[in-house]
Amino acid sequence: MSETLTIPRPDDWHLHLRDGAVLQAVLPETARHFARAIIMPNLVPPVITGADAAAYRDRILAALPSDMSFEPLMTLYLTENTDPSDVAAAQASGLIKAVKLYPAGATTNSASGVRDFDKVRGVLEKMAEIGLPLCVHGEVTDAEIDIFDREAVFIDRVLDPLRRATPGLRVVMEHITTRDGVDYVKAHDEALGATITTHHLVINRNHILVGGIRPHYYCLPVAKREEHRLALRAAATSGDKRFFLGTDSAPHTDPNKESACGCAGCFTATNTLSILAEVFEQEGALDHLSGFVSEHGPAFYGLPVNADTLTLTKGAAVPYPDKIDTDDGPVTLFDPQMPLHWRVS
Ligand code: DOR
Ligand code: ZN
Repeated sequence: MSETLTIPRPDDWHLHLRDGAVLQAVLPETARHFARAIIMPNLVPPVITGADAAAYRDRILAALPSDMSFEPLMTLYLTENTDPSDVAAAQASGLIKAVKLYPAGATTNSASGVRDFDKVRGVLEKMAEIGLPLCVHGEVTDAEIDIFDREAVFIDRVLDPLRRATPGLRVVMEHITTRDGVDYVKAHDEALGATITTHHLVINRNHILVGGIRPHYYCLPVAKREEHRLALRAAATSGDKRFFLGTDSAPHTDPNKESACGCAGCFTATNTLSILAEVFEQEGALDHLSGFVSEHGPAFYGLPVNADTLTLTKGAAVPYPDKIDTDDGPVTLFDPQMPLHWRVS
């Protein structure tokens, strides 16, 4: 008899869908398995106002195949000119579920992000007042800080002071990659949560650099040493409600990845659940998979757990494509370098 696991339908609490031809191609990859996702606003130009978010949501829903159901949970991109009343109105109407903070220059399309945190104080105070979470890309951008230290330094220099200055602000540390991130979350109450990606549970920095440079493993924050990957695996599989799945599935076409200056991002939407089931099984924690992918995120965001279910069945290794085709070019799927035995049905 095959082994099966039935869980509430999962959500993805950090997703890049892009726009146009790439949106059209990658949206079904997420909607096939996930009921909802927090949609990142780092388009070109970014999704800054409530009107921008409403228009982007309409484009996403227009790209959704008619036989699929999926709810995009929209976010606004925080700039030094963001208007607190526009943010509050977008939340009140039910349009947005979070605001995203990119330190200027930290990652893909972050040039309009925040340089001077004093300039966003009013928005953050309004968000604390109305209970709207801030999703944080937690890396400093100072040229003199080593790229592998940028998350830990961000926690000390930016995140901790920002949280102290804005009591009551709910914060998600997005895609944590270090033991420092795990420890910081554990040391605080449930107003602070963290998403963990699929790929950071699987790769460490050796996967990017040993035996040749592997651009499809390059993302930001960059994967760290093995001790950090192990801390992330322990946190994700622990059952602690403050940790939940945010894939950061971030499609870039192959020419943009396989380049002298390749873009950051791992595309994991298609095989994420098979990979996570494998990881949780390896950790002897399959009973905590549902919490991580289906329950902790809704609890943090104050939303109901999905009523429908998804079943994973263990059997022969599940084939996944190497690439997804888009009208802009192929997008390579993350290769976990291990057989995946859990099939989603
Ligand atoms: O690897 C990443 N890719 N990290 C980010 O923060 C942004 C994302 C993207 O948009 O490609
Ligand atoms: Zn991201």
